[in-house]
Amino acid sequence: MATRLAGTFLAGATSRLLPASIPLRFFGAAVASHVFAWLALLAGSGTLPRFAGGLGWTLAALHLVTLGVLVMTAIGASLQLLPVATRQPVRSMRWPVVIWWLYAPGVAAIALGMGLALPWLLAAGATAVIAALVVYGALLARNLAGARGMPIVVAHGWSALASLLAVLVTAFSLAFTYVGLPLIDRATGLALHVAFAAYGLMGMLALGFSYILVPMFALSAAPPERRALVSCALAALALVLAGAAALGLAPQALRVAAVLAALVAVGLHLRMMVVATKTGMRRELGRSFRLVRISWVLLPLSLLAALAVALGAPFGGMPTLFGLTLIGGWLLTFLLGILQRIVPFLASMHKPPGKSAPRTPSSLTDDRPLAVHFWCHLAALALLALAILADNAWIAATGALVGFAGAIAFSTFFVILLLRMRRPPPARATRNAPVA
Ligand code: HEM
Repeated sequence: MATRLAGTFLAGATSRLLPASIPLRFFGAAVASHVFAWLALLAGSGTLPRFAGGLGWTLAALHLVTLGVLVMTAIGASLQLLPVATRQPVRSMRWPVVIWWLYAPGVAAIALGMGLALPWLLAAGATAVIAALVVYGALLARNLAGARGMPIVVAHGWSALASLLAVLVTAFSLAFTYVGLPLIDRATGLALHVAFAAYGLMGMLALGFSYILVPMFALSAAPPERRALVSCALAALALVLAGAAALGLAPQALRVAAVLAALVAVGLHLRMMVVATKTGMRRELGRSFRLVRISWVLLPLSLLAALAVALGAPFGGMPTLFGLTLIGGWLLTFLLGILQRIVPFLASMHKPPGKSAPRTPSSLTDDRPLAVHFWCHLAALALLALAILADNAWIAATGALVGFAGAIAFSTFFVILLLRMRRPPPARATRNAPVA
């Protein structure tokens, strides 16, 4: 029973694999964006403690994280994991490559356009990224429509896809506001954009994939389907309420109702995740899951911060603190924890060149840079929170530097993994090496 989920997930998986170079190019770009994000944050540290939108390096850093790390990883992971999870063949090798070539340079143009305050570059980058996301959305829709099994993942996938539509419209409108072509007014666009991009698109993908990945790594039974679907429905309801509030329909009351619905949805989800990690056959899940567990605490905290913003808390830094808890705290911490686990896992499914056997995930993982990254990441988040509370740009700059050191360590882990993929495993590494 306990290993059934992992077994179902992995059965025949190798026949549904993309060439390693496809997911790895998305993960590589995410790792690089992570480094640039902290540098951009350093450049924008003067305005960070009271950041509330507007072009500049802080907005660039935000989008290097959201588009560069979060969505980039989500695209790479879902292109690979969804066909495996929903038992379908990989239909196209070409479209994922086309997506990458539109998306990665597009994100770079958006970041530079925001950082250097060049509206035409931002608009050009937004056009490329939106085109890439339309193609990605079409691939995701085709995959979900043909899915066999995994109704929980499929329900979350459709919710993420619906949110993607809202993200595309609002992203276009916000970016083209700066060249004088807005679709909707900026305040409405921003409120819709934050809710649907962060909680809708990224949040639904993160919650949905957790139902596969957490039991798979913990070797636990699949979570109860009905409860997971109730959690998904409540999260979708929260998004609809937040959307209606953003459009001006009883904004205060609906925003509070949205947060409450989201808190119940998240409560149900986290309860199932905790049960999976506590009852699985693998109890010691390592440092990667310590990051995931910390992100699980920060998710409800981000909702409480959203509630404080909705109720007009008398603290000027509240919207910034909300953004930090949501993007850096929950989503980035979660993604980096999962990324350090799935990259070696997917890499181990591909044979190295020549006749040597595939390597184990643990023999591909160098634990030392990940240990450095773990502490730097947490210290950077704590320093950024302190910078907002104390309204102090120097603390923000220190936080960005510590985060940058962590990102370099994370890149080191990734480069070492790529090098190890090409070499046969040393004899001692294949025997029960601990998992990072
Ligand atoms: C097509 C891709 C995207 C484009 C072109 C884009 C563009 C923009 C622009 C121009 C703004 C600034 C609005 C202003 O202050 O005038 C903005 C704000 C924001 N974006 Fe995006 N965005 C995109 C995707 C995303 C995604 C995927 C996320 C999250 C996962 C995200 C999160 C945010 C947040 C949190 C803000 C609010 C910043 C603040 O005012 O506090 N964006 N976006």
